Amino acid sequence: MNKKLKPDWAGKDMLSQFVNLLIHIKPIYQVMKHQARQVIIKTAEKNGVPWRKNYEKLAASPVQYHFDAIRNPQVTYPDYYKVPFHAYSEGNLCWKAAFEAPSATYSMALRVWKNESLTWEAAHDRLRGSFHNVLATYAPKEVGDILDVGCSVGISTLTLHRYYQNKQSHSVRTVGLDLSPYMLAVAKKLDINNEISQWLHRQAENTGLPDNSFDLVTLQFLTHELPHSASKAIFKEAFRLLRNGGAIALVDNNPKSAVIQNLPPVLFTLMKSTEPWSDEYYTFEIEEELQKAGFNTPVTVETDPRHRTIVATKET
Ligand SMILES: C[S@@+](CC[C@H](N)C(=O)[O-])C[C@H]1O[C@@H](n2cnc3c(N)ncnc32)[C@H](O)[C@@H]1O
Repeated sequence: MNKKLKPDWAGKDMLSQFVNLLIHIKPIYQVMKHQARQVIIKTAEKNGVPWRKNYEKLAASPVQYHFDAIRNPQVTYPDYYKVPFHAYSEGNLCWKAAFEAPSATYSMALRVWKNESLTWEAAHDRLRGSFHNVLATYAPKEVGDILDVGCSVGISTLTLHRYYQNKQSHSVRTVGLDLSPYMLAVAKKLDINNEISQWLHRQAENTGLPDNSFDLVTLQFLTHELPHSASKAIFKEAFRLLRNGGAIALVDNNPKSAVIQNLPPVLFTLMKSTEPWSDEYYTFEIEEELQKAGFNTPVTVETDPRHRTIVATKET
């Protein structure tokens, strides 16, 4: 049984501080950034994800049209969001990040089972399937309205929507919400059958959506991109948006995962160099904070070797 609550390379530990020091040396950071991209691109291409073709197809599509239609001029970007993420100096606020996001998502799924010879489609199905299985057990049995917060290019939103749509006899209304109009423009482009009711450009902390209007709010791989203060505000907002009996469900890196804790130094340094809020994320007590936001005692399930799913219900 693994007793450590988080990796030594995150938080205030000596190792963590040493890695941070390295990352803050500009020439070293530049090399790290380049290497981190190579790890993701190599995993993708080795397993048949057509990285360049996906990029070119999106770049040639009418994404600018979707961008203009979706972008909400009233949105202001918080400081924590305007920092480099994933080796893009403009973080999530650029076309390059949005055009590469689908391939990067599939690459991420492949890395979970990197010792198995899975196709990228099978790895992705397994990743989402393990999350959906937990929802089947701990989220409400009947779901009418779903909000996928931090939906990025909408892959999480579409797979979640289809899962519920296929399982239930009545129709499901699903909304994807994100702070990046670039990501949302790509999401709209990939939603070729208009299955998703709305792609909303809003800040998750303050969505402007009505009280008690959703049965399920999901945060899929969002929390590790946030400082504590933003996560806490989003939990409160989710509580407000949920109907009585509804649930919030989060899936993200598992600080207690042996794989994550034992990442080789090169890999954890690369990971930290592209994820600016790692120290905050790995020291954040999600279950405790959900309860402070008003939710019932959450359930946590280790959904795969790297990730955990947390579900908490609103019962007032
Ligand atoms: C790693 S991606 C999520 C991936 C996606 N949910 C999936 O599972 O494939 C994180 C997303 O959260 C968005 N995001 C970060 N902070 C946000 C905030 N405060 N409000 C809304 N979206 C936010 C980013 O723009 C980015 O698209």
